[in-house]
Amino acid sequence: MVKSDPGLVLREISHMKASKLMIKLFDKILYGGDYNPDQWDDATIREDMRLFKLANINMVSLPIFSWAKLEPDEGIYNFEWLDRILDIIGKNGIMVNLATPTVAQPAWLSTRYPEVLPVDRAGRKRTHGMRVFFCVNSLKYRERAAAIATEMATRYKNHPTLAMWHVANEYGTRCYCPTCEAQFRVWLRKRYGTIEGLNKNWHTCFWGRTVYSFEEISLPTELNDDYRFNPVIALDYERFLTASTIDCYLNEYNVLRKITPDIPISTNMSGYIKKLDQFEFTKHMDYVGWDNYPWPQDPPHYLAFKHDLMRGLKDGKSFLLAEQSPNQQNWQPFNKLKKPGEVRQLAYQAIARGADSSLFFQLRQSIGGQEKWHGAVIAHAGHENTRIFQECAMLGAELAKLGDTFLRARTPAKVGIFFDWDTWNAAELSSGPSKDLDYLKFAYHMYKPFHEANIAVDVLNVHRDLSEYDVVLAPMLYMLKPGVAERITKFVENGGYFIATTMTGMVDESDRSIFGEYPGPLKEVLGIWVEETDALFTDEQNTMIPTPQASHFLNGEYKCSFLCDVIHLRGAEALATYGRDFYAGKPVVTVNQYGKGRAFYVGTKADDQFLTALTNMILSQKQITPPYKADTGIEVTQRLGEKGRTIFAINNNATTATIDLGSDTAKDLLNDCEVTGRLEIAPRDVKVLWKEA
Ligand code: GLA
Ligand code: ZN
Repeated sequence: MVKSDPGLVLREISHMKASKLMIKLFDKILYGGDYNPDQWDDATIREDMRLFKLANINMVSLPIFSWAKLEPDEGIYNFEWLDRILDIIGKNGIMVNLATPTVAQPAWLSTRYPEVLPVDRAGRKRTHGMRVFFCVNSLKYRERAAAIATEMATRYKNHPTLAMWHVANEYGTRCYCPTCEAQFRVWLRKRYGTIEGLNKNWHTCFWGRTVYSFEEISLPTELNDDYRFNPVIALDYERFLTASTIDCYLNEYNVLRKITPDIPISTNMSGYIKKLDQFEFTKHMDYVGWDNYPWPQDPPHYLAFKHDLMRGLKDGKSFLLAEQSPNQQNWQPFNKLKKPGEVRQLAYQAIARGADSSLFFQLRQSIGGQEKWHGAVIAHAGHENTRIFQECAMLGAELAKLGDTFLRARTPAKVGIFFDWDTWNAAELSSGPSKDLDYLKFAYHMYKPFHEANIAVDVLNVHRDLSEYDVVLAPMLYMLKPGVAERITKFVENGGYFIATTMTGMVDESDRSIFGEYPGPLKEVLGIWVEETDALFTDEQNTMIPTPQASHFLNGEYKCSFLCDVIHLRGAEALATYGRDFYAGKPVVTVNQYGKGRAFYVGTKADDQFLTALTNMILSQKQITPPYKADTGIEVTQRLGEKGRTIFAINNNATTATIDLGSDTAKDLLNDCEVTGRLEIAPRDVKVLWKEA
């Protein structure tokens, strides 16, 4: 083991509010990523150290997939090769994000104990050879995972390169095996107490589904759509999956926490964010970490929203960009190269929205296997003279220069948007009203005009205290959990602006419709009754005609689609009415003055123009402004730390555009100069500006 301490982890100990633990903090932006050195010989690893230094890489994540090499047979460990690699890395002053290798179990484990392998929804046992291919409820898996985590933590607890733990990789296995079925029953018993409680919550009197013992309950495996399960059963399976995955993660977390109490523990969450309730999962992580793999056509606001969501998971705390590709992927249908400057642009977008790292998958490109054509910092060419290496090295130098300027700095926001996994699942599992229901896309749609106006938006757990916000958006708040309507009502009473939409206030936590008039307990604050909801065909539209009350911000006709609520006014006033169908002339958008605030209702999917006009009117009434004025397509954000404010401006356009500081002056951190007035930014380029507090 190396004796020298690379000194990269700040020895300062912090009090972590959420977990009440003292963990080490980082003193720089983490830069590097997944390195799978078990694929390389010593000479290559030494060459990599040279290349890593050239690129200013300060952290590597390893050995994510090495369980088979570390434990060739049950309880027989082979760590010497890893000792050597950690020593080399340590001597080169690089930190290690040490992974428990439990995402890919060795073949002997799957063969000797087949219960470790998951079963798919059609009842087929899955075969060994993939990753994230284990049943999260398998006791044998958990036993062996805890054993290797113990072995690793004990061996490396004092190793100076150990900076952070990376538990497994991208959890998210769905399993329908007998163990999961048995555990599901245990989970249900805990949730509902008695079988009567379950029958009531599942409303099993519908279609004669009453059960008389927990043993009669099966997992929702039916594949034939005509026989869809009662949606609440499928919803509870999703909740159970999150709970089981958290237990499986905690199985290792608890071992690591006990042996290394001050080392931060995290895992990387997959970019496909529907799999697990991430508000729940991340409660157990010291850092939220996520993997960003945008599709080439994704507009900037999609990615911005996902970063904001990651920041929202821990109420605004900075997060880790745990993976992105420095170049193409291998798993998309068409694996586009990242354009010159694009990886830097994406890295800064994450940082600008709250990330304290920029980590890649992968540092060196594999020779074989599924990912041999996936982009890497060091490509098959094996040297530094590639476009991507040079771009990564330039980014590394910049991040090194930025040092700790904005680490842990937060994003001040006056606007919040609710996001809720149970609502997401329940709304999309619902049979009706429309097959086009897509909760995430609907949320993006509401968020877009705020993103375009460069207004910071916090993504909020529905249980969040709303008092620090001026405006709260609630895209399709289909499920109303206890206390949420009361909190919203108080928020509006106290002067907040609340914006609700179609599909709001319709079911309780058990997916039972809220009896009485919609939108349930929100009808008073919204001042409306939604009597019926019409579903439009995918290519069908209705029109929205502004009322005279809305003439100060709306003009002309707007389009709407997806769903059309038929609304009665109960104190609210109409801002627009439908142009067509039997409900023509009836309200589609309303506003209700309630206490000191206003509650808006958009009973449809309004077009971009309408939402932009509504958003801008609300922002101007609430006097919410962006950090600086900028041309369209320049993304401006800020992070507020103890010492001052960092402003980021990213040009997402294909042409040069400007940000206007007016008479303000700031320090341009990348170019070491004072700036003021209008600043030109080239396409994909970035300005990082600093203002002392
Ligand atoms: C995921 C995984 C990585 C790698 C990349 C490829 O995010 O975590 O191991 O497979 O995808 O894009
Ligand atoms: Zn299982």
